[in-house]
Amino acid sequence: MITVCDTGTGIKREIVDRIFEPFFTTKEVGKGTGLGLSTVLGIIKSHSGFVNVVNEVGKGTEFQVCLPVTQTIDTDSKLARYEELPAGHGELILVVNDEDSIREVTQTWLEQNAYKVLVASDGINAITLYTKHQQEISVVLVD
Ligand SMILES: Nc1ncnc2c1ncn2[C@@H]1O[C@H](COP(=O)(O)OP(=O)(O)OP(=O)(O)O)[C@@H](O)[C@H]1O
Ligand SMILES: [Mg+2]
Repeated sequence: MITVCDTGTGIKREIVDRIFEPFFTTKEVGKGTGLGLSTVLGIIKSHSGFVNVVNEVGKGTEFQVCLPVTQTIDTDSKLARYEELPAGHGELILVVNDEDSIREVTQTWLEQNAYKVLVASDGINAITLYTKHQQEISVVLVD
Protein backbone atom coordinates (compact mmCIF):
# COMPACT_ATOMS: atom_id res chain seq x y z
CA MET A 1 0.00 0.00 0.00
CA ILE A 2 1.20 3.45 -0.91
CA THR A 3 -0.45 6.34 0.90
CA VAL A 4 -0.55 9.95 -0.14
CA CYS A 5 -1.93 12.36 2.41
CA ASP A 6 -2.34 16.04 3.01
CA THR A 7 -3.48 18.40 5.74
CA GLY A 8 -5.82 20.29 3.46
CA THR A 9 -9.55 20.95 3.55
CA GLY A 10 -10.69 17.36 3.32
CA ILE A 11 -13.44 16.45 0.89
CA LYS A 12 -17.08 17.24 1.63
CA ARG A 13 -19.27 14.20 2.15
CA GLU A 14 -21.62 15.34 -0.65
CA ILE A 15 -18.91 15.05 -3.30
CA VAL A 16 -16.64 12.31 -2.06
CA ASP A 17 -18.51 9.73 -4.15
CA ARG A 18 -17.88 11.71 -7.30
CA ILE A 19 -14.20 12.63 -7.10
CA PHE A 20 -13.05 9.79 -9.35
CA GLU A 21 -15.52 10.69 -12.11
CA PRO A 22 -13.83 11.99 -15.25
CA PHE A 23 -14.19 15.79 -15.53
CA PHE A 24 -15.58 16.17 -12.01
CA THR A 25 -13.91 19.22 -10.48
CA THR A 26 -14.66 21.83 -7.87
CA LYS A 27 -11.95 24.10 -9.21
CA GLU A 28 -12.81 27.29 -11.09
CA VAL A 29 -13.42 27.07 -14.83
CA GLY A 30 -10.06 26.84 -16.56
CA LYS A 31 -8.19 25.77 -13.39
CA GLY A 32 -8.80 22.04 -13.14
CA THR A 33 -9.51 19.32 -15.68
CA GLY A 34 -11.17 16.98 -13.21
CA LEU A 35 -9.04 14.26 -14.80
CA GLY A 36 -6.45 13.93 -12.03
CA LEU A 37 -8.15 11.32 -9.93
CA SER A 38 -9.87 9.50 -12.79
CA THR A 39 -6.42 9.03 -14.33
CA VAL A 40 -5.09 7.80 -10.99
CA LEU A 41 -7.93 5.29 -10.73
CA GLY A 42 -7.38 4.12 -14.31
CA ILE A 43 -3.70 3.44 -13.66
CA ILE A 44 -4.38 1.65 -10.38
CA LYS A 45 -7.06 -0.55 -11.97
CA SER A 46 -4.78 -1.45 -14.84
CA HIS A 47 -2.41 -2.86 -12.20
CA SER A 48 -5.28 -4.82 -10.59
CA GLY A 49 -5.30 -2.56 -7.54
CA PHE A 50 -7.79 -0.36 -5.75
CA VAL A 51 -7.82 2.92 -3.86
CA ASN A 52 -9.37 3.95 -0.55
CA VAL A 53 -10.08 7.51 0.49
CA VAL A 54 -9.76 8.32 4.18
CA ASN A 55 -11.16 11.73 4.70
CA GLU A 56 -11.76 14.12 7.54
CA VAL A 57 -13.40 17.41 6.60
CA GLY A 58 -11.25 20.29 7.79
CA LYS A 59 -8.30 18.05 8.62
CA GLY A 60 -7.16 16.46 5.42
CA THR A 61 -7.35 13.60 3.02
CA GLU A 62 -5.48 10.36 2.64
CA PHE A 63 -5.48 8.23 -0.50
CA GLN A 64 -4.46 4.61 0.05
CA VAL A 65 -3.31 2.97 -3.15
CA CYS A 66 -3.34 -0.81 -2.82
CA LEU A 67 -1.47 -2.85 -5.41
CA PRO A 68 -0.99 -6.60 -5.57
CA VAL A 69 2.43 -7.96 -4.69
CA THR A 70 3.92 -10.52 -7.02
CA GLN A 71 5.82 -13.11 -5.04
CA THR A 72 7.02 -15.32 -7.82
CA ILE A 73 9.77 -14.24 -10.16
CA ASP A 74 8.01 -13.43 -13.35
CA THR A 75 9.57 -15.34 -16.17
CA ASP A 76 6.62 -14.35 -18.27
CA SER A 77 7.04 -14.74 -21.97
CA LYS A 78 6.32 -11.01 -22.48
CA LEU A 79 10.03 -10.18 -22.56
CA ALA A 80 10.72 -12.96 -24.99
CA ARG A 81 7.89 -11.72 -27.17
CA TYR A 82 9.44 -8.23 -27.31
CA GLU A 83 12.67 -9.72 -28.55
CA GLU A 84 10.80 -11.54 -31.24
CA LEU A 85 9.34 -8.35 -32.68
CA PRO A 86 10.49 -8.09 -36.25
CA ALA A 87 13.36 -5.72 -36.91
CA GLY A 88 13.00 -3.26 -39.72
CA HIS A 89 14.86 -3.07 -42.97
CA GLY A 90 15.30 0.69 -43.13
CA GLU A 91 11.60 1.48 -43.54
CA LEU A 92 10.82 5.11 -42.79
CA ILE A 93 8.42 5.83 -39.93
CA LEU A 94 6.96 9.22 -39.13
CA VAL A 95 6.42 9.63 -35.37
CA VAL A 96 4.04 12.42 -34.36
CA ASN A 97 3.83 13.27 -30.68
CA ASP A 98 3.86 16.53 -28.75
CA GLU A 99 5.64 14.99 -25.77
CA ASP A 100 9.43 15.22 -26.10
CA SER A 101 10.15 12.17 -23.98
CA ILE A 102 7.75 9.90 -25.88
CA ARG A 103 9.11 11.11 -29.21
CA GLU A 104 12.68 10.46 -28.12
CA VAL A 105 12.03 7.01 -26.68
CA THR A 106 10.02 5.95 -29.72
CA GLN A 107 12.67 7.26 -32.11
CA THR A 108 15.55 5.58 -30.24
CA TRP A 109 13.72 2.29 -30.01
CA LEU A 110 12.76 2.26 -33.67
CA GLU A 111 16.26 3.22 -34.79
CA GLN A 112 17.75 0.46 -32.65
CA ASN A 113 15.45 -1.91 -34.51
CA ALA A 114 16.68 -0.82 -37.90
CA TYR A 115 13.89 1.53 -38.83
CA LYS A 116 14.46 5.05 -40.08
CA VAL A 117 12.57 7.76 -38.27
CA LEU A 118 11.21 11.21 -38.88
CA VAL A 119 9.73 13.07 -35.92
CA ALA A 120 7.19 15.87 -35.70
CA SER A 121 5.97 17.57 -32.55
CA ASP A 122 2.71 18.89 -33.96
CA GLY A 123 0.23 18.45 -36.77
CA ILE A 124 1.59 21.23 -38.97
CA ASN A 125 5.11 19.78 -38.92
CA ALA A 126 3.72 16.30 -39.45
CA ILE A 127 1.83 17.35 -42.57
CA THR A 128 4.86 19.23 -43.91
CA LEU A 129 7.11 16.20 -43.41
CA TYR A 130 4.52 13.81 -44.78
CA THR A 131 3.98 15.90 -47.89
CA LYS A 132 7.71 15.99 -48.52
CA HIS A 133 8.45 12.32 -47.86
CA GLN A 134 5.21 10.49 -48.56
CA GLN A 135 6.82 8.26 -51.19
CA GLU A 136 9.30 6.90 -48.62
CA ILE A 137 7.12 6.83 -45.49
CA SER A 138 5.83 3.35 -44.62
CA VAL A 139 4.02 4.11 -41.39
CA VAL A 140 2.81 7.18 -39.52
CA LEU A 141 2.53 6.79 -35.75
CA VAL A 142 0.19 9.52 -34.48
CA ASP A 143 -0.57 10.38 -30.87
N1 LIG B 1 -6.51 16.04 -1.70
C1 LIG B 1 -7.70 16.59 -1.89
N2 LIG B 1 -8.25 17.42 -0.95
C2 LIG B 1 -9.46 17.98 -1.17
N3 LIG B 1 -10.21 17.79 -2.27
C3 LIG B 1 -9.71 16.98 -3.23
C4 LIG B 1 -8.44 16.35 -3.10
N4 LIG B 1 -8.21 15.60 -4.19
C5 LIG B 1 -9.29 15.77 -4.98
N5 LIG B 1 -10.19 16.59 -4.40
C6 LIG B 1 -11.52 16.95 -4.94
O1 LIG B 1 -11.82 16.08 -6.02
C7 LIG B 1 -12.03 16.82 -7.22
C8 LIG B 1 -11.54 16.02 -8.40
O2 LIG B 1 -10.14 15.84 -8.32
P1 LIG B 1 -9.30 15.61 -9.64
O3 LIG B 1 -7.85 15.48 -9.24
O4 LIG B 1 -9.91 14.49 -10.42
O5 LIG B 1 -9.52 16.92 -10.47
P2 LIG B 1 -9.01 18.40 -10.14
O6 LIG B 1 -7.93 18.36 -9.09
O7 LIG B 1 -10.23 19.22 -9.87
O8 LIG B 1 -8.40 18.85 -11.50
P3 LIG B 1 -6.86 18.64 -11.98
O9 LIG B 1 -6.48 17.27 -11.53
O10 LIG B 1 -6.91 18.80 -13.44
O11 LIG B 1 -6.08 19.71 -11.30
C9 LIG B 1 -11.29 18.14 -6.98
O12 LIG B 1 -11.82 19.19 -7.75
C10 LIG B 1 -11.55 18.36 -5.49
O13 LIG B 1 -12.87 18.87 -5.27
MG1 LIG C 1 -6.27 16.96 -9.14
